[in-house]
Amino acid sequence: MLILGIESSCDETAAAVVRDGREIVSSVISSQIELHRPFGGVFPELAAREHLVKIRPVVNEALAKAGVGLTEIDAIAVTRGPGLIGSLLVGVSYAKGLAFGLGLPLIGVNHIEGHVYSVNFENPPVKYPALALVVSGGHTNLFYIPEEGKYRVVSRTRDDAAGEAFDKVGKLLGLPYPGGPAIETISRGIDPSKVRFPVAKISDGRPDFSFSGLKTAVARYVRENGVEPVADGGEPTERIREIAAGFQATVVRSLMSNVEKLADELGPRTLIVAGGVACNMALRDAAESFGASRSIPVHFPSKHLSTDNAAMIAAAGHFHLARGKRDDLSLTADVTIRLQNFDLEDGELRRKKVRYKL
Ligand code: KG4
Ligand code: ZN
Repeated sequence: MLILGIESSCDETAAAVVRDGREIVSSVISSQIELHRPFGGVFPELAAREHLVKIRPVVNEALAKAGVGLTEIDAIAVTRGPGLIGSLLVGVSYAKGLAFGLGLPLIGVNHIEGHVYSVNFENPPVKYPALALVVSGGHTNLFYIPEEGKYRVVSRTRDDAAGEAFDKVGKLLGLPYPGGPAIETISRGIDPSKVRFPVAKISDGRPDFSFSGLKTAVARYVRENGVEPVADGGEPTERIREIAAGFQATVVRSLMSNVEKLADELGPRTLIVAGGVACNMALRDAAESFGASRSIPVHFPSKHLSTDNAAMIAAAGHFHLARGKRDDLSLTADVTIRLQNFDLEDGELRRKKVRYKL
């Protein structure tokens, strides 16, 4: 089965052709990073307009690279949310038009579920139950997945997403947008214990994440120590690099401490780490060594599949289509759609005496 995936939830216009949910025949991503760089973040109205310009050429390029025509496509999967409303509507409307015109099945996909499926292409099949850490610019969630397609959030951020924290700290250190890759680059080879920041504690004791306090701690450190941010186009000083390395290490420690706690409690047979922040080698190394210490296989997407792409959307769409799920033309964008369909009362988590009622 050949599925055309379409993704436009934030600042990447992407299309991909995927065979049987596991083989990428083509994948095209048009990034808007340069467009948004002067604003230090995604400018929603500009993003939507750019999707409008790019959607048709990107879809056509994906088909051309796959060497297939629209008539050879079996179904269309599109991101329906969460994301920016104007951006989402471009992809959803285009996919609906194509599905209607060609008489093809249409499936709306949750973007976060797409990230979970980004590990489908270069890893062995996931063994369940699984734990999936999805860390991106918009989301930081840890999911317990008792079986394919069932999700329970067991840890989430109370404030900023991890990627958002990287981007904000990058900005206050004077680094180019997006901050994540810039912070990783300048932290390389630097001792992260030179400048230390604390891991946030959640007052009610739940194993959730919090990153806004860390961002404030970095801002305070910069102010109190008279640290000058990197000048436009300039080289980072040793002190800036030490702050970046200390911050990165704290984010990794904070992410991994909940992963470790919940993995030990829930006994997953696979650990998935996905989303843009999964590009980060410090996080990958920490997850790898934890997995090795517990004999839990860790699945990562390769870097180009960690950030937003349409292959992961087609893969998630394949799972739902194979189980007979279809959307009709009433499909619409849903900015705040959640990924949680496993009721605590269903059994598994309760049997394991986990108290994470969210
Ligand atoms: O998944 P993604 O492309 O978009 C969202 O769905 O949000 O993730 C983008 C986020 C940005 O915040 C970016 O700074 C972060 O992923 N990111 C990284 C790295 N590469 C991208 N964060 C840390 N280290 C990296 N190497
Ligand atoms: Zn994403």
